[in-house]
Amino acid sequence: MTSQWWELLEQIERHPGLTFVLGAAHSGKSTLAKFLVTRISQRRHVTAYLDGDMGQSTLGPPAALNLALLQYPFEPTREPLENKDALVVARYFIGSNAPGGHFLPLLVGLRKLTQRARQLGAEMVILDSTGFVSGGAARELKFQKIDLLSPQHLVALQHAGELEPILQPLEGRPGMRIHRLPVHPLARPKTLEERQANRSHKYSEYFRGRRLAGFNLQKIRVIGNASPLETYSSSACADLKGLLVGLNDAENFTLGMGILSHLDPRKGKITLWTPLSPLSGVRILRLGALKLDSSWRDHSWRPY
Ligand SMILES: Nc1ncnc2c1ncn2[C@@H]1O[C@H](COP(=O)(O)OP(=O)(O)OP(=O)(O)O)[C@@H](O)[C@H]1O
Ligand SMILES: [Mg+2]
Repeated sequence: MTSQWWELLEQIERHPGLTFVLGAAHSGKSTLAKFLVTRISQRRHVTAYLDGDMGQSTLGPPAALNLALLQYPFEPTREPLENKDALVVARYFIGSNAPGGHFLPLLVGLRKLTQRARQLGAEMVILDSTGFVSGGAARELKFQKIDLLSPQHLVALQHAGELEPILQPLEGRPGMRIHRLPVHPLARPKTLEERQANRSHKYSEYFRGRRLAGFNLQKIRVIGNASPLETYSSSACADLKGLLVGLNDAENFTLGMGILSHLDPRKGKITLWTPLSPLSGVRILRLGALKLDSSWRDHSWRPY
């Protein structure tokens, strides 16, 4: 840990609120976010870690945003943050492992989860974000996220000024401090295959205790970019097998995730594999844009 990290920690503790960790892929965002959240939780009552990276998530399964609460005194050596489903208090299904095509649910989910963190008593929220920072679309998304969430601290991990196009329009924003930090020399890139392997591991862990569950389409709302399910032909229905689905409550928070097994609009039935139990709170099924294969690899899927 560099002295800059300790100085940053001191600044954040002096001015509590939301800390947004920004950086390109492999820049060490999650390492820094975990450092901050575990240190802060040694001294504060309730600290929130908002895992806003639905591709290389630290908490829970990918394709969702996950909010964890760390209660004082959190002991990081006994309770590592990785895959700590027990710490997750709220989840928001995105249905994709990358932001492209999913900006709206990403913004809505981040906003809802930061509000939820505060409602649950977290004075400090550390937000770990995706590495999507290059190009016009990424700049626009990051700008809108920061504008919407109004963090007290924006931490920018950069190699050589690559985040400046995002940072400069935000310079001088009232109530927000920008902290520019270099990427740590030990930050190591992951190959695409390693990134896929991380996701596959997390899906397989999450779905370990899955069971087949059936829902009546008269009683449950199915939403997503797809056309109304009633219009699906039998071949289109068969093609949905393996699709990732969010099992959401009446407030559209995600109680669990499922893998679509069978859809029969004529019989008004949808069945999916899920570890979620009980299912009584599920009101909305949100269709994702990923399919999982038998090796837990995820593949983009486009709705009809
Ligand atoms: N300060 C550090 N000291 C030692 N190792 C580090 C440090 N920062 C990052 N690393 C290593 O570099 C790799 C990438 O770091 P990390 O996962 O934190 O980056 P990230 O920006 O969150 O990446 P991603 O874009 O995949 O989410 C990891 O293997 C991590 O252990
Ligand atoms: Mg990360």
